[in-house]
Amino acid sequence: MCGIVGAVAERNITAILLEGLKRLEYRGYDSAGVAVFTNDEKLERMRRPGKVSELENALEAEPLVGRLGIAHTRWATHGAPCERNAHPHFSGDLAVVHNGIIENHEALREQLKALGYVFTSDTDTEVIAHLLNHKLKDLPDLTAALKTTVKELHGAYGLAVISAKQPDRLVAARSGSPLVIGLGLGENFLASDQLALRQVTDRFMYLEEGDIAEIRRDSVHIWDVDGKAVERETVQYRDGAEAADKGEFRHFMLKEIHEQPSVVQRTLEGRLSPNGVLVQAFGPQAAELFAKVRNVQIVACGTSYHAGMVARYWLEELAGIPCQVEVASEFRYRKVVVQPDTLFVTISQSGETADTLAALRNAKELSREEGGYLASLAICNVGISSLVRESDLTLLTQAGREIGVASTKAFTTQLVGLLLLTLSLGQVRGTLAKGVEATLVEELRRLPTRLGEALAMDSTVEKIAELFAEKNHTLFLGRGAQFPVAMEGALKLKEISYIHAEAYPAGELKHGPLALVDNDMPVVTVAPNNELLEKLKSNLQEVRARGGQLIVFADERSGMTNGEGTHVVHMPHIHDILSPILYTIPLQLLSYYVAVLKGTDVDQPRNLAKSVTVE
Ligand code: F6R
Repeated sequence: MCGIVGAVAERNITAILLEGLKRLEYRGYDSAGVAVFTNDEKLERMRRPGKVSELENALEAEPLVGRLGIAHTRWATHGAPCERNAHPHFSGDLAVVHNGIIENHEALREQLKALGYVFTSDTDTEVIAHLLNHKLKDLPDLTAALKTTVKELHGAYGLAVISAKQPDRLVAARSGSPLVIGLGLGENFLASDQLALRQVTDRFMYLEEGDIAEIRRDSVHIWDVDGKAVERETVQYRDGAEAADKGEFRHFMLKEIHEQPSVVQRTLEGRLSPNGVLVQAFGPQAAELFAKVRNVQIVACGTSYHAGMVARYWLEELAGIPCQVEVASEFRYRKVVVQPDTLFVTISQSGETADTLAALRNAKELSREEGGYLASLAICNVGISSLVRESDLTLLTQAGREIGVASTKAFTTQLVGLLLLTLSLGQVRGTLAKGVEATLVEELRRLPTRLGEALAMDSTVEKIAELFAEKNHTLFLGRGAQFPVAMEGALKLKEISYIHAEAYPAGELKHGPLALVDNDMPVVTVAPNNELLEKLKSNLQEVRARGGQLIVFADERSGMTNGEGTHVVHMPHIHDILSPILYTIPLQLLSYYVAVLKGTDVDQPRNLAKSVTVE
């Protein structure tokens, strides 16, 4: 979605701003612009609809040269994607770029018009420029005026402002939309994602919710939401090494498992309002399209397919929307009957999986004919992928580069994306039960902490892994939305430890697989404290009665305890809807430690590739 880059330096900053915008291109956008306080002391801008390369060509023809500037890639929400609506927006001597949505922009626009301000765009952002300009009349200091301006803004924003009257600084504010300061030597920078600034620095300071920052060439000052001067921690990245370095971890897979609290946090960034989900996170036309959705068809492969299976439970239970899920390699060759008003959803870490892409292309063929799909949506981790480019709507998971072949952090961020989709569809269609959205948003905000607690069980799970070292087969059981979690657990174990593993809905045990259970067949179960717990306990009795070894990851309030042949690991209590995300963690750790014990190539298991771009 939208991207921000800013710079204050002793050298010409235009090329730095352009390079930053290019690095943010993967997020998707439809126009780009830059404003520079030029060396002849004028505030000038260049904006272009379309690609950053269009802006670059325009700047080549008419260069802007200066030492202070801001730039933006816009993904249209309020107003069409055209030059007049592209950022930066001007008011008097000010230039403003903005990510997010100002919810009270209509009321502010009326007030400002009454005060004589003339609007030249349809955007919500322009009200910020005029409001700040107005505040400057009483409070001439730019930073002070910004502090009072943001108090009147409702909604989400990441803002960067420059003024021709105070060209010694760049000021910024963050609420609901991320901003990071890049620290240089005698020069400083700002961006909505540190990726945009990796060319100029490796030292970063992340703004927190409610922060206001004043960034000068040689200093950075930050005030928190209460107006108190604060210091934010400086984070240093070794250049280019962020993803390609295992750090303190023995394998990329373990590192990626442990990254889950932070990448889940990043996937939520800018997508939540105080009590709900921001539907526009799925694209500017999302609200309009979602209002028409009566069915959902999910198509994906492997781990991503398991994420889709979890989503089916959520979509039907929470949003009341019928959902079908199918592996892409089957779907693409099947004659499908499309239900009316079906949203076609693909899920993929890479966005290049051949079967998933082919399924999308088939679906798009159908949508051109009468009775095809309503629209396509990709939940994907790679912004520049084919899947994203070819889909109508996108939600990018923010898992960062996943190097381990076995998918871990991509899966949990996909689940977060799918829960956001469920809540968005339910919100727009008015099908959510009262209070559900606010409760689940609150729970989502707490999720990174819960995931951290689950990861703290690392050494407990490592011990449990010893039970598997000599085994050749394992059963994974789950009920309800935990069944796909069990499937994902089984897939992880077979992929990296080469132990044969199968997952079953626990209620199916007695219909066949129980015949396999004996002392040599460990049975792994995930048991949150929900209405299926008592039924699950009965299924586990069936296993124990046949001498099977049970490994149970159970809610701390489940009342389940260790017994002969039963190993219970207590999990932090969590809202049932979010439990598939939390219970995935111990299963990932279990397969990891079993693989380490077996001495396999954990990050690059035999016969497998990270991105399956051939059929
Ligand atoms: C398993 C795994 C694979 C992928 C599958 C789809 O750990 O990584 O099953 O999930 O190949 O890949 P993407 O998500 O890139 O479409």
